Amino acid sequence: MRYIFSITKNNVIGVDNKLAFKIHHDLLYFKMNTYQSTIVMGRKTWDSLPFKPLRNRENYVLSRNKNIEKIHGVHHIDSMKKIPEKSWIIGGNEIFQQMFKSGDILYITHINLIIEESCMLKMALPEKKFLWKSRLFLVPNKDIEYYFACYKVL
Ligand SMILES: NC(=O)c1ccc[n+]([C@@H]2O[C@H](COP(=O)([O-])OP(=O)(O)OC[C@H]3O[C@@H](n4cnc5c(N)ncnc54)[C@H](OP(=O)(O)O)[C@@H]3O)[C@@H](O)[C@H]2O)c1
Repeated sequence: MRYIFSITKNNVIGVDNKLAFKIHHDLLYFKMNTYQSTIVMGRKTWDSLPFKPLRNRENYVLSRNKNIEKIHGVHHIDSMKKIPEKSWIIGGNEIFQQMFKSGDILYITHINLIIEESCMLKMALPEKKFLWKSRLFLVPNKDIEYYFACYKVL
């Protein structure tokens, strides 16, 4: 499986059920990678999306709630066994932690920022082997650096 997410220096991926930090370039990178593919997310990540379903992608939402509101064109699944092969797993933490397995590929956007908020969601990264990273980029008008990297789960 492939995973794609952004994470701060202190491993925060979300704050108050939203992305920890939004970078336009990173959202484009996410779109470029997942375009015309299958994306799988937990119900809380689905709830957090400002626009949904994400266009030009097959959207799969994991929930154990049988009464979840069904949306035309969206695949509602109640088990990880129903995740199609070659999907992109896009979050959140609860889904990542159940799924990581050896050989999986992680596309991580590292944001050089420390977030300390009471409603933050920290993520435990699995043991991983570094594959590649991009150069450093700078968020326009802010003193925040970020880069894209790829790893294989050990
Ligand atoms: N930085 C990033 O790139 C990134 C990416 C994605 C998300 N996020 C952030 O992460 C946060 C959300 O993550 P989260 O960990 O709280 O929640 P989540 O993983 O998005 O969703 C959890 C929900 O998924 C369902 N679920 C979990 N395991 C399941 C299973 N085995 N079978 C069926 N359904 C299952 C349950 O839904 P029900 O309760 O409906 O049963 C559960 O409450 C938000 O802040 C979001 O913005 C960040």
